[in-house]
Amino acid sequence: MAKVVITNRIPAEGVALLEAEHDVTVWDEAECISRETCLELIAGADAVVTLLTEKVDDEFLDAAGDQLKVVANVAVGYNNIDVAACEKRGVVATNTPKVLTETTADTAFGLMLMATRRFGEGERVIRSRTPWQWGMFYMLGMGLQDKTIGIVGAGQIGIAMARRAKAFGMDVIYTDAREMEASAAAELGAKRVDMDELLATADVVSLHCPLIPAGQDGATHHLIDAAALARMKPTAYLVNSARGPIVDEAALVEALKKGEIAGAGLDVFEDEPTVHEGLLDLDNVVLLPHLGSATVETRTAMAELAARNALAVLRGEAPETPVTSI
Ligand code: GLV
Ligand code: GLV
Repeated sequence: MAKVVITNRIPAEGVALLEAEHDVTVWDEAECISRETCLELIAGADAVVTLLTEKVDDEFLDAAGDQLKVVANVAVGYNNIDVAACEKRGVVATNTPKVLTETTADTAFGLMLMATRRFGEGERVIRSRTPWQWGMFYMLGMGLQDKTIGIVGAGQIGIAMARRAKAFGMDVIYTDAREMEASAAAELGAKRVDMDELLATADVVSLHCPLIPAGQDGATHHLIDAAALARMKPTAYLVNSARGPIVDEAALVEALKKGEIAGAGLDVFEDEPTVHEGLLDLDNVVLLPHLGSATVETRTAMAELAARNALAVLRGEAPETPVTSI
């Protein structure tokens, strides 16, 4: 039996898979584990199941010890993991792609509708008991039909978002270092453009790329900065369901205040769970507390996939979805 540590509550189905074969410790509290407790808990673990709130770096790997074989992240994004540090020590790291694709695209689409149709703003009017009345010109938004969506990052979630947009009558353009899967591009009539053209053309810019730190190949940190926002149409909307630091939040606040863009829908923030004060004061931005993959079904599937990944490595087999090249 190997020692498996789960650094926070995950759906029981994932825990059960691990418990069937190994000695499992779960930090079973509603709030996130503190760094100190986490480093103590993982000492001597052969496998650690992590959430995106845990930073897996040299300090973490040292605290676990040399016997550690696998870090199974219960998230598709793995910017919390120092992949090179894992590889150097022969630790396999895994993530949970595919199982959350449709749910995360639903969230991005929801943000787009809420922002363009002013649904968040409308809800706030009623809840604040502000008097209102139906009116021909009351709270008009932007229709999506015949508008252009610009998908930044045409991976699985980007494609799933594009499918939804096409079903709502939108034209699809995208930017990515690689071509979109040919079958998806044909089905969507998606045109690949460079970032500048996408920013200048799209009525909605929706982010679906990973967060890659500044200085690394293909860096996406502050990809949407003041200059990028200035290139967007004043009538355009920004949707971020990927990772907060892809957007320069201070620059976004300025752009929204000055009317450089029409609005934004955000599920992620630069310094979660802190949200920029400037955003809280603006009516033309919709804010969600990182609900991208938050359905019962999807979180269960993510926990099960992470568990299968950890079990595979502990058995000496290849995991389904590694992010390390070992
Ligand atoms: C959630 O943000 C994830 O990366 O799965
Ligand atoms: C609006 O409520 C309409 O009936 O057009």
